[in-house]
Amino acid sequence: MLNIVVVGAQWGDEGKGKVVDLLAQKVGYVVRFQGGNNAGHTLVVGGVKTVLHLIPSGILQANCVNIIGNGVVIDPAVLVREMDALVAAGVTVNPYRLVISTEAHVILPWHKALDLARESAAGEGKIGTTGRGIGPAYEDKVGRRGLRIADLLDRSTLGRHIAMVLPDVNRRLVADFHAAPLDGKACFAELDTLVERLRPHARSTIRLLHDAMRRGDGILFEGAQGTFLDVDHGTYPFVTSSNTVAGGACAGSGVGPTCIDEVIGIAKAYCTRVGSGPFPTELSDAPGERLRAVGHEFGATTGRPRRCGWFDAAMVQTAAMLNGMTGLVLTKLDVLSGMETLRICVGYEGLLDVPTGAVALSAVTPIYEDLPGWSESLTGVSTFEGLPENARRYVERIEALVGVPVVVIGTGAGRDEVIVRGRPFL
Ligand code: IMP
Repeated sequence: MLNIVVVGAQWGDEGKGKVVDLLAQKVGYVVRFQGGNNAGHTLVVGGVKTVLHLIPSGILQANCVNIIGNGVVIDPAVLVREMDALVAAGVTVNPYRLVISTEAHVILPWHKALDLARESAAGEGKIGTTGRGIGPAYEDKVGRRGLRIADLLDRSTLGRHIAMVLPDVNRRLVADFHAAPLDGKACFAELDTLVERLRPHARSTIRLLHDAMRRGDGILFEGAQGTFLDVDHGTYPFVTSSNTVAGGACAGSGVGPTCIDEVIGIAKAYCTRVGSGPFPTELSDAPGERLRAVGHEFGATTGRPRRCGWFDAAMVQTAAMLNGMTGLVLTKLDVLSGMETLRICVGYEGLLDVPTGAVALSAVTPIYEDLPGWSESLTGVSTFEGLPENARRYVERIEALVGVPVVVIGTGAGRDEVIVRGRPFL
């Protein structure tokens, strides 16, 4: 079986959870390799909606082993809450089905406090983070002063860590941000209550993955966020703090690039973004409002309204390049039904490439191509030929501009509401 990386080709929220859930039927393992509970992967199975933040989307497939890889940052309280919610919904969550890398880093209470304090102090310049402590946790990881899951499981290491770092953190919270200091004993007690819940699931996951590959079980590497939130390749500084591109799958899970067979990029049939930062095709008028309302464009993690705009083929083509994409999944095509004219951004005036960095991208003028829309509902359409002609033309134009085959088209929220056209889905 194949080893497949799934990544977002825009700014996140492309519908990766549903695609991973579909592919999880074909593999034995699903691995999250970066990010944390800033992600929110919504799945609708049998009409029941499940939002996952940390646990890989394969947990809803009975035979799938789910791994939270070393590249993820884990908030223990959120993870335990998510495990409990799944169990309450009748999903089996045991140490065989959910494995947590002992090398993953922990989001500590002060990471959240620092994230929130910094954002509120930044005023106009804020990133618009999810406030979950992601940035500060990755800062400590790279600064070589973080706490890993293996350390969390050892009470004396946890106690020493809190005693070592908290005085400095409290100084910063109070002096720089006029925020309340944290109590070390309370932090220890809070984390300590969660440790025994995580312990049975925690192990080194490298051998597990390599044994799976040797057996040919098939591994799905589940990306979070999207290409243009990548800390290197995104609209810096309006990005998240990890590598969201396909290359991150290797470092974040401990496999080499030669192990990857396919890279599937996910893009909405239009475009959305949450948080601050440039968005060249953003619509601040009626069509944008319509996309938000019909597409239910509100953040799965924070509930914030998403900014909406036209499909930007220049960006998705860049995403295809950055990720080595072998197939493109186009989600939420149904949301466009009823729009008279659809616009696709095919490039920016006077530029050959999508500029990197927020300042340059804020200054671009998109070049649009207009295509006629369609009025028919796409509900129940299960073949490409069954789509209205203008919907087919829209998909084919995107395919030509991005230069990657559109292998799946989303026509609704449900697991079955898809048109499957190509590998590795067929
Ligand atoms: P952080 O990851 O919480 O630090 O937020 C940094 C930026 O990434 C903000 O603009 C967030 O809105 C955005 N972001 C983080 N996670 C997601 C996601 O899962 N979907 C969409 N945007 C996200």
